Order: sequence, then C-alpha cells, then structure tokens
Amino acid sequence: MGVSLSGRSFLKLLDFSTEEINYLLDLSAEFKRMKMAGVPHRYLEGKNVALIFEKTSTRTRCAFEVGAYDLGMGVTYLEPSGSQMGHKESVEDTARVLGRMYDGIEYRGFDQDVVQELADKAGVPVWNGLTDDFHPTQMLADILTVKENFNNDIKGKTLVFMGDARNNVANSLMVVCAKLGMNFVACGPQENMPTEDLVATCREIAAQNGSTITLTSDVAEGVKGAHVIYTDIWVSMGEPDELYKQRIPLMEPYRVTSEVMAMAADDAIFMHCLPSFHDTNTKKGAVVAEKFGITEMEVTDEVFESPASKVFAEAENRMHTIKAVMYATLK
Ligand code: CP
Ligand code: NVA
Repeated sequence: MGVSLSGRSFLKLLDFSTEEINYLLDLSAEFKRMKMAGVPHRYLEGKNVALIFEKTSTRTRCAFEVGAYDLGMGVTYLEPSGSQMGHKESVEDTARVLGRMYDGIEYRGFDQDVVQELADKAGVPVWNGLTDDFHPTQMLADILTVKENFNNDIKGKTLVFMGDARNNVANSLMVVCAKLGMNFVACGPQENMPTEDLVATCREIAAQNGSTITLTSDVAEGVKGAHVIYTDIWVSMGEPDELYKQRIPLMEPYRVTSEVMAMAADDAIFMHCLPSFHDTNTKKGAVVAEKFGITEMEVTDEVFESPASKVFAEAENRMHTIKAVMYATLK
C-alpha cells in the first residue's frame, strides 16, 4: 500500500512516519519540477482554505497563498486580530465554523494546544504554520534544500543548530533529523537547550534510524565536520524585546561566522529559516545596533551573503513543500 495522507492534519512531525515524510518530500520535488516546467497543476479546483495568522509572516503566508492558487484553490487570509478567535469566540467554536466553510485551515500562533484543538474540532485538515513549540512546514523546505545540495544523500549527514536551541525551529529540526537518520547537534548555551523530554523522544527515534542527537555548548566540538550549519533569530515572535539584553551576551559565542563555517565540512552549507538579523537594514536591527553596539546578530553578513548560504533557495522551497502538504492532505 502506498502512503496516503488524505484527511490528515499536519501539526508536528512527531505524528508522521519516516515513510510519510519522505513521501511529502518526493511530492514537493515533483511540484517544484512542474512549476519550473510551467506544467499546470490545478488539482484542487473548487476547494478553499483559510489562513489564520496570530503572528506576522512573509514566507509562510505567501507560500500557502501561492501554493493554494497554483492548485486552483480559493484563499481567505485572517490577519492577527482579523478574526474573532480568542477575543470573542473560542477556538472550538471558530474551528466548527471554519470547518463548515473551508476544506483546510492553516494556523500560526502561540500554543501548540490551540492548533491541536482546531484540528480536533474543525473536521478538516489543519496545518501548523508555526507555534511556540514547532514549525513543521519549515522542516520540509529545509530538508528538500539539504537534499538538493547533497545529491539526495542525507542519511548520516550532520546538521548543527547554533544559538537558541530550544525554539520552535530547533525543536523541529531535531525531530526531522531523527526521523530521517541525520545527526543533529544543538550548539548553544546550557540554559537554551531543548527540553529533556523532547531530547529523549528524539534520541529514541534517531537510534532506530541510525543517527545521533548531541547537545553541546562547545562551538568547536559542535560544528567540527558538520554538513549543515543552521541558525535562527535569538528572540522569537511572542517573546518580549526586553530579552535582547539577556540573550545577546548569552548567544554571541554562537553567532555563525566564517570561522565557524571553516570548522565545518568543506562542502558545508549555511541555512536559516529567515527572517534574519545579519545587518542593520531592519528597524529592530538598527535599534539593537544603537543599544547594544552590534551590527549582526545570529549570523555575520559575510556568511549570509556567501556562496555556502542557501537561505533564498530554502525560502523558495517553502512554497513547493507547503503545496505538497495541502495537496496530500486535501486530495
Ligand atoms: N520562515 C518563516 O516562517 O518565515 P515567515 O515568518 O516570514 O513566515
Ligand atoms: N523562531 C522564529 C522562527 C521564525 C520563522 C520565531 O518563532 O519567531
């Protein structure tokens, strides 16, 4: 029997088998080929999706919108504070209303419990567009990008996440690496490591797939020979800006620099989910520069702009992979 994800929600990768994740990755590559070749794929004409964003977004929103349009679907975007949900109407009631109008619902917000409740009550597939705990659609784009750069040969490769290693992106990378037999290294300060529970779960999965999960605060030890160096912002959405004062000194040793890249494998690539503070060309970047005297945060501009940096290909892959998730679950 082939894999079928029809009717399933996509809330976190722990819910999916290795085979199912590989199926979504293969489907993504196929959609990418079709898009590049100009082959129409309006397979879901007549269906409609709702996109709920309680946090801001560029990539995820655009990926869902373009992916849905390419598949022939209608889209409604509900911006932060643009719906009654949470303010005047419970998550459960919102789910039961939207589930009667839409064929699928994307949700970006805070608690993982909310996206879970939406999925439990909506009666249609719900897709997690980022919560405080996980960012599963990002993972498919990231792994597709790794595959493209390593000739599809990812088993046994090592991905190092540098910095705030207990955030949604780091958690999700640890899960996807474990599921796909890649070694995962969390390289950051002791106080920002993923929870013991999640580490234990991922170690068990990784062992079944022949890979390892390592936590270290030692940069040289963490990045030595790595194939992928990955980082993310130091203060995530939903966290207060006051945290910069504490996070900057804590995270600075884990900035991705040319020296870090030089310790990795010769063919190592740099990845980042974006948005990134690699210069002062943002309001926040400028404020941080003025207040704390640093012009780059999690990655230097030099690495960000280097040939090893695959961040824009990675961003493009958000669209192909999210399209695959919508198609697989709605077809
Ligand atoms: N990587 C990512 O999720 O980007 P957005 O916040 O722009 O959606
Ligand atoms: N950790 C980041 C990811 C953004 C895509 C955040 O949650 O803000």
